[in-house]
Amino acid sequence: MQKIIEIEAVTKVYQMGKETVHALRGVSLDILKNEYVALMGPSGSGKSTLMNMLGCLDTPTSGEYILNGQRVSTLVDDELAAIRNKEIGFVFQTFNLIPRLSSLENVALPLVYAGMKKSDRLDKAYEVLASVGLGDRVGHRPNELSGGQRQRVAVARALVNDPSIILADEPTGNLDSKTSVEIMALFEQIHNLGNTVILVTHEPDIAEYAHRLIRLKDGLLESDTYNQNIISAL
Ligand SMILES: Nc1ncnc2c1ncn2[C@@H]1O[C@H](COP(=O)(O)OP(=O)(O)OP(=O)(O)O)[C@@H](O)[C@H]1O
Ligand SMILES: [Mg+2]
Repeated sequence: MQKIIEIEAVTKVYQMGKETVHALRGVSLDILKNEYVALMGPSGSGKSTLMNMLGCLDTPTSGEYILNGQRVSTLVDDELAAIRNKEIGFVFQTFNLIPRLSSLENVALPLVYAGMKKSDRLDKAYEVLASVGLGDRVGHRPNELSGGQRQRVAVARALVNDPSIILADEPTGNLDSKTSVEIMALFEQIHNLGNTVILVTHEPDIAEYAHRLIRLKDGLLESDTYNQNIISAL
């Protein structure tokens, strides 16, 4: 299988006044196309820092990042934004929807940057909302939706550009267990369609959905294992 993510000796150092924080201390990792990876580790171990870097929201302090064959570790903000738009779908714990926009408008928004004309944007947004089971909630604003529905809108927004990778940082962190199961079923569906899925979670039963489990500790890779239950069932 083709490597979609290659990172080599990546570090991230934050300078906070006089204090230096080593959030990543040299992480090397390959992820293949269509892998389903769970990222775990204690609070402060660098999970979100790594996800933000993988998602081209941030660049490493040192080290290499090659995404889909392209070296992104040295790109400037505009170039990163363009790659992010094309390759990455991001889902956050707190949904990050725009309150005054409807579901349809929230999902259509990334297509503005892709330069698609308005009627096509709305058609595409509707199609993706319907695919996550929200065809009957397109006119609702985020505060008119349940938590699970908000996260579905956020997943639809992440999918609307047909990205090659879906990154989710604790996507079920604000959901009850029943709703979490529904959102995980959605990620499973996305994975089955051929996408690469990487998610951060603190919950072992959520991590069980993934095929590969990567643990970080103190900014370093602690372990990298395959989920034997799933692998043997394939
Ligand atoms: N923008 C920032 N500026 C300064 N320090 C930061 C910044 N972002 C993260 N850090 C620090 O980097 C370290 C790693 O943070 P990170 O958010 O990646 O942890 P995490 O594993 O996602 O934790 P959690 O499970 O609590 O979400 C922490 O010590 C944090 O305080
Ligand atoms: Mg985090």
